[in-house]
Amino acid sequence: MQRESLMNILFIYSSLFIGLISDGNESAYRGEIDRLVSWCSTNNLELNSLKTVEMTVDFRKDPAPRLPVILCDSPVSSAESFCFLGTTITKELKWAQNISYLTKKAQQRMYFLRQLKKFLLPVKMLVNFYTAIIESVLTSSITVWFAAATARDKAKLQRVIHSAEKVIGCSLPSLQELYFSRSRRRAAKIAADPSHTGNELFRSLPSGKRLRSIKTRTSRHKNSFFPTAVSLLNSAPLAPR
Ligand SMILES: *[C@@H]1O[C@H](CO)[C@@H](O)[C@H](O)[C@H]1NC(C)=O
Ligand SMILES: *[C@@H]1O[C@H](CO)[C@@H](O)[C@H](O)[C@H]1NC(C)=O
Repeated sequence: MQRESLMNILFIYSSLFIGLISDGNESAYRGEIDRLVSWCSTNNLELNSLKTVEMTVDFRKDPAPRLPVILCDSPVSSAESFCFLGTTITKELKWAQNISYLTKKAQQRMYFLRQLKKFLLPVKMLVNFYTAIIESVLTSSITVWFAAATARDKAKLQRVIHSAEKVIGCSLPSLQELYFSRSRRRAAKIAADPSHTGNELFRSLPSGKRLRSIKTRTSRHKNSFFPTAVSLLNSAPLAPR
């Protein structure tokens, strides 16, 4: 019994449902939600409409107002942003909020690195500490936000790395290098997994040497994960870090 209610909570808090609405036709989107609701009820999972939010990402000039989704007879409220797996996703798809949070958190942790330095620990141990405790913060969800982040935000994060280099006394991977290696790793994983929904975006050209690049019309799309990952794999196909 205990276990069942725990699953229930996990399900409610950690589920994300994404739908694409084109030409203002919501029937497929709403139909999928109805299917989700009935799937939940046949599996004894309760959907709480009060704890569910809907966020619409719409970059058209004059988007028409939408009717709220109804879950179990109550309307779901609409949100400007929400936190998913620790990263705040806003309807403008901007990442400044999380980047300043990450910078602050990494700066706070620099304190411990400075303390450790006082104990004259070997460089290798300081680097290990930095990688596990500070770099991990700087790179959380980096494949999602790095390409779209402003130069100013990237510089803020890079400054933390510079301070760590000064404290430890050796050079450390730059933010850009970390982004490249993380993106390449993730892209290679998706490209090798036919069950991943993004797998079909990594298609080889007939020559077999390069991937088909993804056509983009906006810089927002160009700076998102898949187009950047494809051009990254094309620019340095066989150079794992
Ligand atoms: C909306 O899309 C559904 C399929 O998803 C289709 O059956 C229906 O005809 C469409 N409605 C309009 C008004 O285009
Ligand atoms: C992102 O930002 C939100 C709000 O500022 C914060 O609650 C959340 O923990 C942040 N997550 C990460 C991974 O930075």
